[in-house]
Amino acid sequence: MKKVMLVFGTRPEAIKMCPLVLEMRKHPEFETVVCVTGQHRQMLDQILACFQVEPKYDLGIMQENQTLFDVTLSILGLLREILTAEKPDVVLVHGDTSTAFATALACFYLQIPVGHVEAGLRTYNLQSPFPEEFNRQAVDLISDFYFAPTETSRKNLLKEGKPDEKIFVTGNTVIDALATTVQKDYQHPEIDWAKGSRLLLLTAHRRENLGEPMREMFTAIRRIADEFENVKVLYPMHLNPAVRDMANACFSGQERIHMIEPLDVLDFHNLMARAHLILTDSGGIQEEAPALGKPVLVMRNTTERPEGVIAGTLKLVGTDGQAIYTAIKELLTDPAACHRMESAANPYGDGKASKYIAQILKEKLG
Ligand code: UD1
Ligand code: UDP
Repeated sequence: MKKVMLVFGTRPEAIKMCPLVLEMRKHPEFETVVCVTGQHRQMLDQILACFQVEPKYDLGIMQENQTLFDVTLSILGLLREILTAEKPDVVLVHGDTSTAFATALACFYLQIPVGHVEAGLRTYNLQSPFPEEFNRQAVDLISDFYFAPTETSRKNLLKEGKPDEKIFVTGNTVIDALATTVQKDYQHPEIDWAKGSRLLLLTAHRRENLGEPMREMFTAIRRIADEFENVKVLYPMHLNPAVRDMANACFSGQERIHMIEPLDVLDFHNLMARAHLILTDSGGIQEEAPALGKPVLVMRNTTERPEGVIAGTLKLVGTDGQAIYTAIKELLTDPAACHRMESAANPYGDGKASKYIAQILKEKLG
């Protein structure tokens, strides 16, 4: 029996790795071991509960206002012993977080093969997103299996000289997750609150946007809420205190903006499915929105997800307040522009990425 260990630690990794954990557990050829770093605490636990995944190991590393040093050092220190004891045949990491980077580095030091789920995404700008672009390139430097979500990500890997036979285009496991969460007859108090208005769903948390860029973003959205009486903004706030302080400073006193706690993924996906427009600097939401046919204004200067831009669902608007305000206003006042964005096709696979990954591992690990 081959031992496959999955290591993840933040909300988006959990959303995209839990479907894979559940799939791997269906295969008796594998011993599937889950280790969470706890880089996120509450936001990770929400997802584990939703998918009913219980980890064997929980490193519990999160600290309030943690730095990149804190996260990387804690994970490296704690994983060494676990990996040495478990001796997995392969470790699967996801995406571009510090959890993924530190885990891959620990595996490299111990010469344990790494499989990278969501491999090959690139902006080729190490400052944007920071530090994620470094993390994903570093993981790809040492991976043995590249599970690329799209042909574009495969081409990035080939361009960098990664061997063709180690690259597998599987689609993104986030589409697998969406298939289990979105419901037709879903109800939520925030949907009742927004009834009769156009609902703008907001998320924002990127490290490089903290401070002035985030003030610009939030001020533009406040202007929209002040000017459009038939618009309501729902913001499930990231738990980073730096994000929350800025949101409170910019949004307080406007009753058409609701700042709420992070939502369970089931609630979030269903609210996305009912939103008029999504405003975000998130990565994962750029993959989910095309599948739900929802227009997204991406408040970043770069994206590693050009597929959604090419498909027409995503528009990259940067972090300048005036540009964000103008882009939102255009979509609120030009239904045809909004409709064009809604009708784009999903470029992120058929919702069976986890199945393909399990099958590939079965063949390759023998
Ligand atoms: C991390 C990832 C980022 C990913 C994001 C998803 C890195 C470097 N960054 O960024 O790639 O897009 O997660 O959300 O890996 N906090 C809590 N409870 C939680 C989660 C966070 O209190 O459940 C607070 C803590 O004060 C923590 C802070 O948020 O110190 C920042 O968390 P951290 O994981 O360092 O950074 P993120 O911005 O969440
Ligand atoms: N999400 C969620 N609850 C929320 C906000 C977002 O479950 O209140 C989900 C969302 O559907 C997506 C993921 O969290 O799958 C995105 O996470 P985040 O924006 O924190 O990270 P990123 O994708 O930018 O790395």
